[in-house]
Amino acid sequence: MDSIFVTFEKALKKRFAIGAFNFYNLETLQAILEAGEITASPVICSVSESALQYMGIDATVMMFEALTEKKKYPAYLHLDHGKSFEVCKKAIDAGFDSVMIDGSALPFDENVKLTKRVVKYADKHGVFVEGEIGTLSGIEDNTIVDEKDSKYTNPQEAKKFLDLTKVNSLAVAIGTSHGAYKFSGDPKLRIDILSNIEKELGKFPIVLHGASTVDLKLIKQINARGGKIKNAKGVSVEDISEICKHHNVCKVNVDTDLRICFIASLRKNLKACPKEINPRFFFSDAKEEMKNLIITKIKLFQGKL
Ligand code: G3H
Ligand code: 13P
Ligand code: ZN
Repeated sequence: MDSIFVTFEKALKKRFAIGAFNFYNLETLQAILEAGEITASPVICSVSESALQYMGIDATVMMFEALTEKKKYPAYLHLDHGKSFEVCKKAIDAGFDSVMIDGSALPFDENVKLTKRVVKYADKHGVFVEGEIGTLSGIEDNTIVDEKDSKYTNPQEAKKFLDLTKVNSLAVAIGTSHGAYKFSGDPKLRIDILSNIEKELGKFPIVLHGASTVDLKLIKQINARGGKIKNAKGVSVEDISEICKHHNVCKVNVDTDLRICFIASLRKNLKACPKEINPRFFFSDAKEEMKNLIITKIKLFQGKL
């Protein structure tokens, strides 16, 4: 089975992006892993700090190990938006394949210092490290970043950051944001900035966060069944496709679309089956729908859609 380092090398060489999907319970992890097997593709299973608190690190790792034991295609356990050295160390010690150290809210020098410390520790344990430079607007692990304060990645700064930290991949800010409300105006990504970053970094794996497309059909379905989600807007499928096919983006992060899908399914079935009291009935359908969505995402990220 390829290590995460080899999988990134392949993604960079063959121009596809690995899907990184967030999970927070058994069903969401099953959905990601089954989608990986069905599409014969590697997947990255991401856990945010808050999801880690929700599940507990031991349960997270044990569940991941148990479910991946007999897999044919690689799945990697990844810490999403680790904000401190301590949480990254905890994940590395617990057996994660990869950690993201997100010092993007810090001044440049502090981000470099923190990231270097994580890289040094991760290197000793053969763990992959993703850094971030530039800030995404939106909601991320209980931190709210105003859209007006969002800061695109400066290509020269990205190069300097890479040289100083030696991270294995780099998350950049090109106009995406976390959550279901990505744009107040036109959904426009700065693919020109991405191209400039690529010129500076050369052939190096870039990560795109906040890549949910926010399916308005599902939002409508949720709202028709008691939901109140207003003015939701995501990245266009065309932009995602262009980025995966023609750029060095090797990892694309999706969480919000999976949440929307899961909740739409729950609302639909709770309404349709008012006498049903077995949670498994609702969860298994939600898992199936999430799995099908992940399959579509994987194909999109591989340039097959
Ligand atoms: O990057 C953001 C993810 O969507 C994590 O969100 O902290 O609610 O799990 P969460
Ligand atoms: P979305 O909120 O667009 O799904 O982004 C998720 C993400 O970037 C997780 O790190
Ligand atoms: Zn993110």
